[in-house]
Parts: sequence; structure tokens; C-alpha cells
Amino acid sequence: LASSEAEIGAIVEGQAVTIMWRGKPVFIRHRTAAEIQEARAALMSELKDPATDQSRVQRDAWLIVIGICTHLGCVPLGQKPTDQRGDYGGWFCPCHGSQYDTSGRIRKGPAPTNLVVPTYTFLSDTKIRVG
Ligand code: FES
Repeated sequence: LASSEAEIGAIVEGQAVTIMWRGKPVFIRHRTAAEIQEARAALMSELKDPATDQSRVQRDAWLIVIGICTHLGCVPLGQKPTDQRGDYGGWFCPCHGSQYDTSGRIRKGPAPTNLVVPTYTFLSDTKIRVG
């Protein structure tokens, strides 16, 4: 499929879901106010692959990234509330320990770049299309 649609109306704050797009997992996270604040507070000088949180989201509450570690391609943990999320509250890659923040930016470990933000469109407040 060239694009994938997802209903997001039932994803409550703090919850995340994974959809598949072109054979790849895409993480959709409904961020809490604290997660957004944390993402905004990061200093560019602390980032390995500097990018503002604003440049990575269309709507503050929704972070949408391809769920593939930019080191060697494992799927990071952090989609379930019980998952290990690392020191920065985003995702933790179990393969070699890369840690991503609540904007999906690489903060620690061997991954060279941030989780990739795919092309996506809000079709409505409760529906997005990825691709
Ligand atoms: Fe994720 Fe190596 S594949 S840290």
C-alpha cells in the first residue's frame, strides 16, 4: 500500500499504537503535556541530530515516526506503557541501547540520527493518513 490510514480518536493521552506502512512499523503516540514540554525543553546543543520538536510534529499532541532504529534497524521499545523507554522517556532500542526522547530524537547510544518522521496528513481530528 502506498499509504495507510489510522483511526486515532480512541488513542488516549499517553497511549501509542503501531501501524504498518510499506512494510514498516509506524509509531503514533498521543503525547501528554509533560512529554510535549520535555520535548520542547531540550537544548539544541545537547542533540546529536539537532531538530526542534516543532519541526517534527504537525500537532503538538501527536508524534508520528517510523519505528525503526537508525542504527541497525531494530524496532525500539516504548509503545507499551510497561516497556522500557530509556532515560528520555521516548523509546529504547534493545539491540544496542540507543535511547530516543519524546520527540523521537536520538539522545544516547550508537544510532546516528533521529527516528524518521514519515509524510502524513490529518484527514480529520480522528484520522490520519501516512504516506
Ligand atoms: Fe538500535 Fe543498534 S539497532 S541500537
